[in-house]
Amino acid sequence: MSTIPNLTLNNGVQIPQLGFGVWQVPDAEATAAVRTAIEAGYRSIDTAAIYENETGTGRALQQAEVAREELFITTKLWNSGTRDWSGPAGRDAVLRAFDESLAKLGLEYLDLYLIHWPRPMHGSYDNVWKAFEQLLADGRVKAVGVSNFGPEQLNRLFETSSLVPALNQVELHPHFPQHELRAFHAEHGIATEAWSPLGQGRDLLTDPALVKVAEKYGRTVAQVVLRWHLQSGVIAIPKSVTPSRIRENLDVTGFELDADDLAVIDGAATGVRLGPDPQTFDWN
Ligand SMILES: NC(=O)c1ccc[n+]([C@@H]2O[C@H](COP(=O)([O-])OP(=O)(O)OC[C@H]3O[C@@H](n4cnc5c(N)ncnc54)[C@H](OP(=O)(O)O)[C@@H]3O)[C@@H](O)[C@H]2O)c1
Repeated sequence: MSTIPNLTLNNGVQIPQLGFGVWQVPDAEATAAVRTAIEAGYRSIDTAAIYENETGTGRALQQAEVAREELFITTKLWNSGTRDWSGPAGRDAVLRAFDESLAKLGLEYLDLYLIHWPRPMHGSYDNVWKAFEQLLADGRVKAVGVSNFGPEQLNRLFETSSLVPALNQVELHPHFPQHELRAFHAEHGIATEAWSPLGQGRDLLTDPALVKVAEKYGRTVAQVVLRWHLQSGVIAIPKSVTPSRIRENLDVTGFELDADDLAVIDGAATGVRLGPDPQTFDWN
């Protein structure tokens, strides 16, 4: 069984540094994938209301032979344009969305709840964050955070609330390493969580520089990339529906990348995102 280290969030809550993501896993397949992940040793699961697989994910959580307190479950508020999140009704809409997610997951509490996208073109989400403050105060969630936020949106939160997000989940992998944002997070006590940590299994995993490093350690490129995340102090949540890959991605604690190889991986940055730019991207 792998021994994934925990990181301590800014409110003292511990989060496993490697978790299991389920974006694009259909609800009907989520139960098997999450069950395989938990059996392999993952204790942190990352879903979202918009993934439409909270029910299937929840089914695996009910079946798991692991105590609830050993699991770390994250889901995200889908703050799309279909509801008025920022207006006066925003707070109640958030609380309703939280209840819906919790019911689908079949849980009494969440470990982490995130605002999924900033949508800065729609102005403030002060009411959303107020609802998050309430959920935290009521003990319905252990930690709250954001996703896809930039320094501008984080500064805005700092101006309106003393509750600093526990983490910011953003696109991050060796081709898009987010150095500046990570430095900003470190300055403010916000943990960095990487989405698409394997570059969505595309060009990153055949990058010749990374293939060379992987060969040196007798590991796969995916394992070397996940090891780079861990040694960079980043939380990673790789997704796979393939049982052998689910296990492979967790088997990353038995080796250490040396400084030269970390530098090679850092040097692979292209600055090209795979996902949309959260500063300009809107969902409807
Ligand atoms: N907050 C956000 O806005 C946001 C956005 C995107 C993602 N996320 C979260 O981050 C999680 C991970 O990101 P992601 O799903 O975009 O991408 P990812 O984890 O970087 O890559 C997943 C892809 O890589 C393949 N793969 C996994 N392990 C592999 C291995 N060892 N060797 C070769 N290929 C491998 C998978 O294929 P198979 O499944 O076929 O094995 C899948 O196609 C998501 O599931 C979600 O929880 C959040």
